Amino acid sequence: MKPVALVTGGSSGIGRASAVALAHQGYRVVVASRRAAHLEEVVAQLGEDTATAIPADVSVDEDRRRLLETTAKRCGGLDVLVNAAGVVHPGSLVDAEADHIRHMVDVNLLAAIFLFREALPCLAQRRGAIISIGSVGGLVSSRISATYGATKAAIHHLTVCLAREFARHGVRINTIIPGPVETAFVGGGALQQLAEATLSGRIGQPDEIARWVTALADPNAQWVTGASLTVDGGFVIGP
Ligand SMILES: NC(=O)c1ccc[n+]([C@@H]2O[C@H](COP(=O)([O-])OP(=O)(O)OC[C@H]3O[C@@H](n4cnc5c(N)ncnc54)[C@H](OP(=O)(O)O)[C@@H]3O)[C@@H](O)[C@H]2O)c1
Repeated sequence: MKPVALVTGGSSGIGRASAVALAHQGYRVVVASRRAAHLEEVVAQLGEDTATAIPADVSVDEDRRRLLETTAKRCGGLDVLVNAAGVVHPGSLVDAEADHIRHMVDVNLLAAIFLFREALPCLAQRRGAIISIGSVGGLVSSRISATYGATKAAIHHLTVCLAREFARHGVRINTIIPGPVETAFVGGGALQQLAEATLSGRIGQPDEIARWVTALADPNAQWVTGASLTVDGGFVIGP
């Protein structure tokens, strides 16, 4: 039987690239996010034997419950959880709308905490792994939004705390910290500016993050847990 990977934010960008990369490594993948049509594109690309789409808003309790129940029912268990769903509302904190602040905390942080809590018992049955997508904005001062940076820094810290707590169950918990990657997250005007601010002189592509997702998911990476792996083309160092 194929190992099973659930990828939130699997409809686009880094999540979608991760789902495709995991499928190519032999996983059965479940892609979850709000836009059903985008999820169905992933299923069409990978085939129904390999991919399942479950539309869900991870910040809604009932959606998360249905997501995990349906994954268990259709796939028989869970080996890998990729926490890639994320939102950003760029701008200064003093000008930010309260709804936008709550939205970032709800999706980037609270939804992840609850999803981990709900998925960890299933992951423990298979000695599985969680891989979160953090951000350089949570490592150094976020230029796009302080709240966004704070939610990502919290994910990096959650990784360390949960890795310690769940090591005895054989569950590994790691985070990848991407620099700027060409997805819907990065507005067109910012591309050149971000490329120039990166040591490598360019921004990354989603599959350059996805290959580290598969590396951390691999049971051969048994000795890697509680790690935050920066994959940023040298963005943090600067040009
Ligand atoms: N691109 C970058 O430069 C960069 C850098 C560092 C970190 N990251 C992180 O990488 C992750 C993926 O972002 P991306 O760059 O690939 O951008 P993206 O293409 O916009 O992906 C964001 C994903 O999150 C999903 N999502 C948003 N709200 C959701 C919700 N409430 N419930 C379920 N899914 C939700 C979106 O799907 P739906 O709209 O279908 O719900 C989409 O699949 C994010 O966590 C982001 O913070 C990105």
